[in-house]
This record gives sequence, structure tokens and C-alpha cells, in this order.
Amino acid sequence: MAPSTSTTPLLLALLLLPALAAAASLPALPLSTESRWVVGADGRRVKLACANWASHLEPAAAEGLARRGVADIAARVAEMGFNCVRLTWPTYLVTNATLASLPLRWSLERLGMLESVAGVRVNNPALLDLPLIHVFKEVVSALASKDIMVILDNQMTTPGWCCSRTDGNGFFGDKYFDPDEWLKGLSAMATIFNKTKNVVGMSLRNELRGPNQNVTLWYRYMQLGAEAVNAANRNVLVILSGLDFDNTLSFLFSEKVSLSFTGKLIYEQHWYGFSDGGNWETQNQNDVCGTVVDFIWKKGLFLLQQGWPLFFSEFGFDMSGTHIGDNRYLTCFLSVAAEMDLDWAIWALQGSYYIREGILAYDESYGLLSWDWCSARNPNFIIRINSLQSPFQGPGLPNSQEPYNVIFHPQTGLCVLARSSRYLQLGPCDESNAWNYTSAYELAVKSTGQCLQAKSVGENAQLGTDCSKPSSKWQLISNSKMHVAAELTKNGTRVCLDTSPDGSIQTNQCKCLSVDPACNPESQWFKVILSSRDIPGGSSILQLPSHGTWTPTLLSS
Ligand SMILES: *[C@@H]1O[C@H](CO)[C@@H](O)[C@H](O)[C@H]1NC(C)=O
Ligand SMILES: *[C@@H]1O[C@H](CO)[C@@H](O)[C@H](O)[C@H]1NC(C)=O
Ligand SMILES: *[C@@H]1O[C@H](CO)[C@@H](O)[C@H](O)[C@H]1NC(C)=O
Repeated sequence: MAPSTSTTPLLLALLLLPALAAAASLPALPLSTESRWVVGADGRRVKLACANWASHLEPAAAEGLARRGVADIAARVAEMGFNCVRLTWPTYLVTNATLASLPLRWSLERLGMLESVAGVRVNNPALLDLPLIHVFKEVVSALASKDIMVILDNQMTTPGWCCSRTDGNGFFGDKYFDPDEWLKGLSAMATIFNKTKNVVGMSLRNELRGPNQNVTLWYRYMQLGAEAVNAANRNVLVILSGLDFDNTLSFLFSEKVSLSFTGKLIYEQHWYGFSDGGNWETQNQNDVCGTVVDFIWKKGLFLLQQGWPLFFSEFGFDMSGTHIGDNRYLTCFLSVAAEMDLDWAIWALQGSYYIREGILAYDESYGLLSWDWCSARNPNFIIRINSLQSPFQGPGLPNSQEPYNVIFHPQTGLCVLARSSRYLQLGPCDESNAWNYTSAYELAVKSTGQCLQAKSVGENAQLGTDCSKPSSKWQLISNSKMHVAAELTKNGTRVCLDTSPDGSIQTNQCKCLSVDPACNPESQWFKVILSSRDIPGGSSILQLPSHGTWTPTLLSS
């Protein structure tokens, strides 16, 4: 998890891979929904793999324009493998004509930020004297030129850092949250981008919260907001936040919103390590992951099961890798993101802010980019998230064959591959064999008659044909259900699937199953998930291309 400070050729080569993956163009637009999935105009699943880019703080301009050219930033988003940006905006940007027409230069000068003015002059000279609303459009258009989809997120009414219970922006009727002004703002924003193809969705209001939140009013105003957006722009998805800082959508369990249009509604939920009701640092990691995932199901994940799209529009962690709670939360989050094949948006793209909470040039420790916006803050994470940037499941995937299983390893973002019967290793999920986790607890490679077998403690796991032995019966144990365990002989030693630092798949004594709060089980965490991605080598074992050295760098953290 620690950010890599090395720039070995291997790592650089790996960093190019997401770029290749992102060479794709925009999906067939507009988007709509089909049960729990977001699909393109051609009916194929479009997975939202987004980064949040803040544009709602005091300057009311996208962050980073003083540090890098807007086209470079957009290119960087694509290179890192994201297909979408959740771009935030304050209501006043469209309802307050004085603010909307304020040139970026003046907006920065009035806040005393002369260095930022100088930075914009160097990096984005064409934007310096544009009115703020035009700067916003230029950012959307820079993203369009890199085939990045945009979700416009109404973060606040007044420009400034979000969110607190008492900032007057939390719920309808709060000091700065006049429902009529909000509806006017939504309608104006939807209209401005009514002909802009890459604007595919609007988050109606970020993180509703505070002492005045009220479920009855939630339904009333969210329905009005959704109708206002749809009336101005029939193309965009309308995305509705829950209550309690978007941690809670549980009130939707029995009553959904009712709208005059169909196929455009998505709910959004936020999940951070500091707000999920768990205690990541003081409890056993399996126990807390199990508890928190139950909690997240009750708060919102149930919507997917009920056939409604749910977008995890904010998750994030301290990219320095030094925050133990965040590290643990992240691995648990990634396991759910893989299993449920979530649509998501990471907080955040920005490596720093012009000003945040009164601090100039505030460093965003959750930022994908470094403080100076020039490099990835945590290159390992860019690799780790890569396999979750394209869909495993959903309508119209190229592969029309039966879904199969992949064995996902959330610590690395890689999957278990059998290059030969005797050697299994972690590698790109795109190159996974077609596994089948059977009702008899076998992990078989489809149509080969072979299945995974434990040999002994500390030895490589192998494929074999005698699949009825105890050493081929794999149970998902511990409260996280991510330990994959078998017995070497009937009622004999129990071992868990494990990864060694060189990426090979072994079996070892099961570790950290419960109680111990200090122990890190992640090398033994696997998630058996469904996939219908195309398999390059079919389901055969030996046709798989050999990639050699994928894993050492990844596991060195
Ligand atoms: C509109 O924006 C300007 C510039 O930021 C600000 O001075 C003014 O107070 C705002 N008007 C309202 C009604 O908030
Ligand atoms: C929520 O708002 C409705 C409609 O204004 C009101 O009747 C109800 O008392 C409010 N509920 C709470 C808990 O404040
Ligand atoms: C954009 O706005 C125009 C004028 O109101 C309307 O006729 C058109 O249908 C809108 N387009 C979309 C995609 O909603």
C-alpha cells in the first residue's frame, strides 16, 4: 500500500497498461439504465469508473488550473484508466450572474491568491480572463476531447468546502439551501449542457445532512429536482443522494421515488473508512470488514439486489499508505467493488486545492495526483484499481458464453491464474482462467477436469484431477468470508490460500482469522466473483500468454 518511490522500468511499463486500456472512445450515448446496470445507447453495459474533480470551493473553478494545463489534466485522467469525472459545482455558479460572469483572474484575486493567478497565466493562459461559467465549460470540453464522460455534481449552494451539519447547505430549507433556487440551478445547468454529449449524468445534491433532514421532504424535493433536470435535458442520468452525508438510503427499501420518466434514475451512496460504522484500527480486520459490509448492505447495497443502479460516487483513502484504518477499509471496499461490480467515483482527482478551509495550497492526501498535479501520488493504487475499471458482468459484454468465476485478490487488484498445472500465480484479471466454484466446494478450471488442490503448508497450490479429496474442497471462512480454506487430509491440518511475495499461490496456515486486531490477513484474502469478460486463451490452461514478472513490485508494499 505504501506509495512507491521507485521508478523502476517495470513499474513504468505497468503504468502504461491502463493507458492502453483507456484508448477506447466514448460509449454509445446517451446512457440509460437496465435494472441495476448503466447501459449505453447500444444496450451494452457502461461501467462508471470515475474520479471526483472539485470545482465548488471558494474560487468556483476546477482545482489545479494553476498547476497544469487543463488538457494535460484530462489526458492524465484517461491515462490512469478512468472513463469519467464527477465534476462538482456550487449552485451560485449558475444562479448568481455576478459570480458566473466573474473572470477566473478576479475570482482568485479577490481571495488574495496572486500566486494562483500567476500559475493559471503560465499553465492555462486561455482561461485566465474567461468568466467562471465558461471556465467550467472549458473543463467539460477538455474532458470531452479525451473521451471522458462527465457527471455534474451539485455539491453546495455557496462556493466552499463541503460538508458539515451546520454549514447552511445541508438540507432543503437550510440558510443557503432554498429549494426554488436549487431547482432553478439544476434546470440552468441541465440546459447549459443539453447539447454536450459527454455530460452523461447529474448528481442532484451531494451529501444531504444536518438537523433538518427529513425523509418526507427528501421524496418531495428529489422528485422535483429529477423532473426539473429531465425537462431540460432528457439525456442525462439523474443521480440521487441519500441522507446522513449520503451514508443512508435505507428509507428507500420499501418506497422508491416516483418519476414521470423511466430508465434514467440512479441512487448514489458514499463509503469512507471514517464513516462506515466500523472501527478499522482496533478490531480484527476480518471481523470489521464483515460487520461493515453488512452495514453497507442495509444502508444502500440492497438497492442493487432490488434491481436499481447504485453508484458509489465517493470512496477514498489516505494515499500515503500510512493510515492503517484507511488501508484496511480500502481492501475491504475493493473486495465489495469487485464482487458487486460496482460503479464508483474515487475522491479525488485533485492533488491540492487553491484554498481549502482557509489553508492555501492545501494538500489533498486522498488525491490521485501529487500536490503539484504532476504525478500519481500512489502509483501502486493506479495498478491496483485497474481491473475494477472495466465491467466483469452486465448486459452485452463481448463474451456471450456462460459467466465463470475469477478469484480476485483485493490486496493487489490481481486474479489467480493457472499458467500450468503446477504453477499458479497472480496476474491481470483479463487473463484469468474460467474458474468454476462448484456447489461441492471445488475450484475447477472449466472444461479441463482439473481443480485447485492444496499440497502442504508452505507449498505452491496446484491443479489436479482428483477433485473429491479434502484438499480440493475450499470453504470461505472468517467473518470477511475471504479466507479460502481446505484440509490437507480428512479432519487434518487446515490451510488457507495465500500469496507469496513473488506472486505465486501457496497454501499456508490460516492467519488473523479473528480476535487479533494487529494482524494483517490481506495476503490470504480472495473473492470468488462472477465474470463474463472475454478470455484470451479460452478456458484452456496452456494457451494463456505468459507475462512473467507482474507481481513482485505489486507485492513489495
Ligand atoms: C453573488 O456572487 C457575488 C460574487 O461572488 C457575491 O459578491 C454576491 O454576494 C453573491 N450574491 C448573492 C445573492 O449571494
Ligand atoms: C418532515 O416534513 C414534513 C412536511 O413538512 C412534516 O410534516 C414532518 O413533521 C417532518 N418530520 C420531521 C421528523 O421533522
Ligand atoms: C434541449 O433543450 C431544447 C429546448 O428546450 C429541447 O427542445 C430539447 O429536447 C432538449 N434536449 C434534450 C436532450 O433534452
